[in-house]
Amino acid sequence: MLHLKLETDPRWVTIVESNIEEILTDHAWCEQKAATNAITIITYNSEHEDLVTALLELAKEELEHFQMVHNIIKKRGYTLGSERKDHYVNQLYKFMNKGGNRQQSFVDRLLFSAMIEARSCERFKLLSQRIKDEELSKFYHDLMISEAGHYTTFITFARQYGKGIDVDKRWQELVAFEGELIKSYGKSETIHG
Ligand SMILES: [Fe+2]
Ligand SMILES: [Fe+2]
Repeated sequence: MLHLKLETDPRWVTIVESNIEEILTDHAWCEQKAATNAITIITYNSEHEDLVTALLELAKEELEHFQMVHNIIKKRGYTLGSERKDHYVNQLYKFMNKGGNRQQSFVDRLLFSAMIEARSCERFKLLSQRIKDEELSKFYHDLMISEAGHYTTFITFARQYGKGIDVDKRWQELVAFEGELIKSYGKSETIHG
């Protein structure tokens, strides 16, 4: 369903397991960024009532995810570390069309968001299947389902608001770019690392 070019090497899970506190801190901030991203899209495209309605719901879910991760951190006696940079997302961001016309930028932002949801979903699926920690396995399974729904939301709006733009072609360009980009990842204990 996600149509990613490259699956994550399962050895990444072993790296994650070596530092659970770090993956949880990184993950918590990923959820914060996802909520912030949804609110940013709403801010710049507030004339679309259906989009605002759906993304307000999505932002709430991302904040709930942030809270769920924070609760696990507290329960385990860990500390939420400072905000972590997401180099993968920052590189993906560079691919976006930001100087073109407003509609093209809007569609690109939705596709960029769909891509991050798709990769996060793939990472959560792998974690749910492979991580030995039972609580986290169940947790990541539930999140995988939620992020798959977000992927669908973003891709659906990209198609809806991309009339006159070849959205599928643009998506394929992004998928190809991401497929190359992700080759240099999978080596650190972060959600997109
Ligand atoms: Fe999330
Ligand atoms: Fe999400």
